[in-house]
Amino acid sequence: MLKLIAKKSLRRTLRWIKLRRQKIVAHTIVSKANRINLCCGSRKLPDFCNIDISTDADLVLDLEKTLLPFRDNQCEIVICISAINYFSRQRGLQIIKDAHRILEPGGVARFATQDLRLIAQKYIKYDKDFFFQKLVSGKDRFEGETIGDKFNSWFYGYKTSGGKYCKYFYDFESLALLFKKAGFTMVEKKDI
Ligand SMILES: C[S@@+](CC[C@H](N)C(=O)[O-])C[C@H]1O[C@@H](n2cnc3c(N)ncnc32)[C@H](O)[C@@H]1O
Repeated sequence: MLKLIAKKSLRRTLRWIKLRRQKIVAHTIVSKANRINLCCGSRKLPDFCNIDISTDADLVLDLEKTLLPFRDNQCEIVICISAINYFSRQRGLQIIKDAHRILEPGGVARFATQDLRLIAQKYIKYDKDFFFQKLVSGKDRFEGETIGDKFNSWFYGYKTSGGKYCKYFYDFESLALLFKKAGFTMVEKKDI
């Protein structure tokens, strides 16, 4: 009996130490961060605080539930590539507002996402080459059998390792509007 209690408490202590250590590491990362990569996935960037719901990230956060743990004006750059579409428009606006809060004056937010207008044009044009393209792995880029199915899966699909699906798609105008609502003064489109 005593032995069991001792074992349990040792396990608990070790877990407490592990959690405490994780908290200290997270606290150090958060307090020093100056460049933020939101929803990094497997593309972790050097010199950035790479955030994702997946456990490989430098900082594990579910941005559906938590906003950014950084101080006002703490950062010079916030990037978010192929991910703002994983949030509702309302949550997207909250995240962009929070990016604005943590950026220093003159700081830059760089967001990239699939372009609703471009994909819609490809659908209207019945662009088979686009919709039936393959990934390097040999798998279809878009799930589904017909172009209509593939167009739908683009809207509702793209499940990530964190079990999240796409929720909202933007063209430049609609995404730029959220940045303006969030307080950004200069919003530009960059074609890559
Ligand atoms: C299509 S991937 C893009 C990954 C990376 N930015 C890139 O360019 O390759 C979308 C990422 O968003 C992350 N994500 C989706 N919902 C999230 C959430 N609620 N909180 C944090 N990350 C989330 C996913 O885990 C996934 O890594």
